[in-house]
Amino acid sequence: MTHEFDGKKYERASTHQKEWGAKLIAELSLQGTERVLDLGCGDGTLTAQLADLVPSGEVIGIDASHGMIDAAQRKSRRNLTFLVMDINDMDFVEQFDVVFSNATLHWVKDHGILLRNVNRALCVGGRLRFNFAGEGNCSHFYKVIREAMLLEAFADYFSEFVCPWYMPSVDEYSAVVKASGLGGARVWGENADRFFQNAEQMTNWIDQPSLVPFLVRVSDRKKGAFREYVVRRMIEETQQADGRCFETFRRINVYAST
Ligand SMILES: C[S@@+](CC[C@H](N)C(=O)[O-])C[C@H]1O[C@@H](n2cnc3c(N)ncnc32)[C@H](O)[C@@H]1O
Repeated sequence: MTHEFDGKKYERASTHQKEWGAKLIAELSLQGTERVLDLGCGDGTLTAQLADLVPSGEVIGIDASHGMIDAAQRKSRRNLTFLVMDINDMDFVEQFDVVFSNATLHWVKDHGILLRNVNRALCVGGRLRFNFAGEGNCSHFYKVIREAMLLEAFADYFSEFVCPWYMPSVDEYSAVVKASGLGGARVWGENADRFFQNAEQMTNWIDQPSLVPFLVRVSDRKKGAFREYVVRRMIEETQQADGRCFETFRRINVYAST
């Protein structure tokens, strides 16, 4: 299942995702001629940075959210294309030198299929570089959202709810990559815990993207109350004496080649 996001709001609320992504892009040491696929490109900011680095290459960004792709399209140019596409449906064949993904693949449940499709999309000698959420990520948000879903006022909306995220441990994911048959694989964890400067910054991140898969299940009449509960409890749980708000961000990093 995929979700709709507000690409413009996300663009303003995604400082930390952009920081992680810029670090990942710098590590790629691109030569300028590569063909690059960005899985879950969101508002396209990082995809555009990739395109800047491959003036003689080509970059395609895919995302399932029309709202995200609408925001991304404004950045498209000769060597940069954006497509509305579910990652689970991609069927590229030997088309890319690099498959890149930042802050997205915890939304994809079956990584056995994902890695098979990525392997097929890569040319001989191609490589992948992912960073996504792993075990222990967003522990405060998890605690509060579980609490909210169990409240009498909202519980009926979540009776058949399945968590939209896959956040494995390093060991678990290492086994998945090993089974994929990709070469030169490295999987490592990263503690990227951080402080939001104030409650407003954290609330923007709660709104886009974190709350989206939960709020969509609640009736319009009760959406406001649900959001208000989550925001209030998150501030209670995470705000420090100096006004900043703390959250755990635990990442899985993956590198592999064909
Ligand atoms: C947190 S955003 C990351 C966006 C961008 N990579 C960045 O780092 O700013 C996650 C993105 O993954 C996209 N996404 C989630 N599941 C997807 C799927 N199955 N297929 C395509 N895109 C998906 C969402 O629409 C969203 O734009």
